[in-house]
Amino acid sequence: MATQHFINDGETLVQDALDGLALTNPNLIYDRANKAIINSEHDGNKQVTIISGGGAGHEPSFAALVGNGLLGAAVSGNVFASPSVQQIVNTVIKVGGSSGTLLVIMNYTGDVLHFHLAAEKARVAGFDTALLVVGDDVSVGRKRSGRVGRRGLAGTILVEKVLGARAQMGNVTLPELQKFGEDIVGRLATVGAALGHVHLPGRPKADFVESEDQVELGMGIHNESGCRILKPQPPIADLIDQMLDQILDVNDADRHYVDFDPKNTVLLVNNLGGVSSLEFSAITKTAIDRLGIRNIVPVRTYAGAFMTSLDNKGFSITLLNTNDEIIQYLDVPAYTLGWTSTGSQASGTKVQAAQEVESSNRVHAEYASTSLLRVDITALSTALLYACHKIVDVEQEIDRYDAVVGDGDCGSTLGRAARAIIKSIKDDEFFAANTDAVRFLDTIAQIVEDNMDGTSGALYAIFLNALAASLRNIGLVAKKEIVVEPTQWVQASAEALEALQRATPARAGDRTLMDALEPFIATLKATRTVSTALAAARDGKNKTKGMPAAFGRAVYVPEQSWSEVPDPGATGLVYFLEGLFSNW
Ligand SMILES: *[C@@H]1O[C@H](CO)[C@@H](O)[C@H](O)[C@H]1NC(C)=O
Ligand SMILES: *[C@@H]1O[C@H](CO)[C@@H](O)[C@H](O)[C@H]1NC(C)=O
Ligand SMILES: *[C@@H]1O[C@H](CO)[C@@H](O)[C@H](O)[C@H]1NC(C)=O
Ligand SMILES: *[C@@H]1O[C@H](CO)[C@@H](O)[C@H](O)[C@H]1NC(C)=O
Repeated sequence: MATQHFINDGETLVQDALDGLALTNPNLIYDRANKAIINSEHDGNKQVTIISGGGAGHEPSFAALVGNGLLGAAVSGNVFASPSVQQIVNTVIKVGGSSGTLLVIMNYTGDVLHFHLAAEKARVAGFDTALLVVGDDVSVGRKRSGRVGRRGLAGTILVEKVLGARAQMGNVTLPELQKFGEDIVGRLATVGAALGHVHLPGRPKADFVESEDQVELGMGIHNESGCRILKPQPPIADLIDQMLDQILDVNDADRHYVDFDPKNTVLLVNNLGGVSSLEFSAITKTAIDRLGIRNIVPVRTYAGAFMTSLDNKGFSITLLNTNDEIIQYLDVPAYTLGWTSTGSQASGTKVQAAQEVESSNRVHAEYASTSLLRVDITALSTALLYACHKIVDVEQEIDRYDAVVGDGDCGSTLGRAARAIIKSIKDDEFFAANTDAVRFLDTIAQIVEDNMDGTSGALYAIFLNALAASLRNIGLVAKKEIVVEPTQWVQASAEALEALQRATPARAGDRTLMDALEPFIATLKATRTVSTALAAARDGKNKTKGMPAAFGRAVYVPEQSWSEVPDPGATGLVYFLEGLFSNW
């Protein structure tokens, strides 16, 4: 493993790399503030916009896949780190148009939370936005990946290529494109293998010593481990056979996802970044040979560095089960530097000054949402103040619970957001004057997002933004100003819960705030009675006592701790709801 780099500063490295890309492709715009690459010729009113993104270190993914026939834009985080919510929202608003925007991402917790939250915020700002999450790994099987789900790997490129060509035709709606994307994801399987791990620029040097003469099967694209070490290193044909077994064995209950049609299978051999071109081409030939022995003759073969993991000496094999329609979209040329196939052609490499665009800073100021829905601002602010004061009162109690089963900061995290809301309501004239329900929620959501970090902050922010977005849609049909009816609050809350459930796999029973939120909203929907719903939330919270955790740090806590305290997140939510409805 090489631990030396030419450039060790992760931040300048990513910015300069994006800049360099735009300098070699005149059709690209480099948006420095949002670390985004934008297709200058893209028109989001004529076709659905496809935006992808994630951590850097996977080049050419995703920035070099921006161009006609593929992505409208790509947003980059730092090396192996998700981009921020604000970067994503700004890019959607800048590039997306009236045809809507599909965010295509890989299945990693950070990306999934950030892009979901960004999608809700974009919707609140009036930009129709949907998400497609790609999980194509088969190596870390169902049992081990469990609730964390399948990782996204190189197959993501094929999904984006097909959707890019489909979207370009123009006659497809956002929901149709999303559905088509889900269909393609269901036809994909990928397995990686590597000779070693990678070193991240800027990290301390002597990480670990790698033993020679071994291969790691199932290697991820962020230096994360695979499923098995093969030692000694098998010959390449044997290695590829083992990889193909993982993709094709229909009797492997843990890994079998797709039934491949031997006559309609597409092969993608992907260089993880560090395999010499000489070796890589021979690997590709071997993969085709080994598939041939299984009577699979790929209808198309793509080979190259599409989804890298820095300079990892490894490769992955992806199979896509296609049909005529999918092949047709794969064959449409894409004018990008990253999609290299005989069907595509890079659109000129003339060097010109990279176009930089000024970035809009806060979406909030410019695109503040307005609606015809009105609230009684005095009553709502008062209720919210009660709820926040309640949280401040119980902050230490919740921290004590969290000290038993987590980091010990759940209460203070909630407290920080509560104090920020109290301060804003007291100091900010906005709350005295504003009666627009959507702007009200949008503002509260922003305060929560700015003041509450970690997963719980993201979950609250997604819920509040989704609540605002749902109300906004409800308000669109109103012809004049109307006060939000209780039934409309209930409908919007139910939709916000659905949005949240798309962003997190946590459900009631996993010892999270969902144990209180799900019964609260379900009961509210069924009975329309706040007191009954509150009792259901309390009951759900009580049941977390004794329940083992399915996610987060709490998973590593000794068993007897479960019976000592209820889940701190669910407890916090119950206190908040009790405060909110104390005068109901
Ligand atoms: C992504 O992971 C989640 C769990 O976090 C899982 O439920 C879901 O099925 C995965 N999605 C894909 C497309 O693999
Ligand atoms: C979209 O347009 C193309 C050609 O412009 C046509 O072949 C195709 O059938 C259309 N698809 C739909 C779903 O309308
Ligand atoms: C990469 O993986 C190896 C082996 O698991 C680990 O020791 C090393 O710390 C990792 N490096 C980084 C930067 O994550
Ligand atoms: C929840 O537990 C508390 C204290 O253990 C108890 O006072 C309360 O009645 C319980 N509530 C429900 C709805 O079970």
